[in-house]
Amino acid sequence: MAACRKWFVIGIVFGMETALAAEYRRLCESPQTRQPLAYLRLRRAIRTVVEHRDIEPGQALPSERDLSQALGLSRVTVRKAIAGLVEEGLLTQRHGAGTFVAERIVKPMSRLTSFTEDLRARGLNPRSEFFERGIGEVTPEEAMAMNLSPGAAVVRLHRVRYAGDEPLAIERSVVPASVLPDPMLVRDSLYEALERRNCRPRRALQRLRAVSLGAQHARLLHVATGSAGLSIERRSFLDDGRVVEFTSSWYRGDIYDFVAELHTD
Ligand code: GLP
Repeated sequence: MAACRKWFVIGIVFGMETALAAEYRRLCESPQTRQPLAYLRLRRAIRTVVEHRDIEPGQALPSERDLSQALGLSRVTVRKAIAGLVEEGLLTQRHGAGTFVAERIVKPMSRLTSFTEDLRARGLNPRSEFFERGIGEVTPEEAMAMNLSPGAAVVRLHRVRYAGDEPLAIERSVVPASVLPDPMLVRDSLYEALERRNCRPRRALQRLRAVSLGAQHARLLHVATGSAGLSIERRSFLDDGRVVEFTSSWYRGDIYDFVAELHTD
């Protein structure tokens, strides 16, 4: 706990970092949130202050050295905390300049997360406007994509997805009614609704294509017709191999970065 006390003092000295200091201290002291691993504690404190906008998008984080000195942690520990948040897309690193809170929405491709989770992790407020939230019969194309029998019932969602007032994406999702019997079970988040039914997807296949947005999509996304966009198709699976969603999305190209980590083996 010595490290926590030291951080408290430093927090008073560095005005801008007071919120981070306070959050770190809270995590050290509260029995409910106490996290034995220092790098996870620091990661959580950074995530919270970014979500609360105590450190704004585009603003720099204290240097690795300052953080490690202030907290009495090794630089390896601080680096590990930061690396995880860079991988999540919450922070970005510019060579020689330091670590910053990400301004564009950087979405790591290897993690199966929902739109709602991606935005909340960046301190943004996810919201949806529904154009369709109903139940119907599967089309031949959907039946092929989802391994469903002709005539099977499916839930259909057609939504514009917002961060606050800013439209970011349009999504059309199809979910077997055997998994989600009532479309009204989806309030803001499809994945939360699936989670409540113990049917959250475990694996997904995703296809991305660059597109120029047609008039209708461009109007809904508040951009000019022909603007760059990303078309994404996701098929997600349960542990037992059943397809749980088939979603086609159109994202604004000026706001989203999709990042993939590559390995040699
Ligand atoms: C992303 C994916 C969709 C998925 C959605 C779920 O946007 N591209 O395939 O359906 O997340 O998000 P939420 O749970 O916020 O509805």
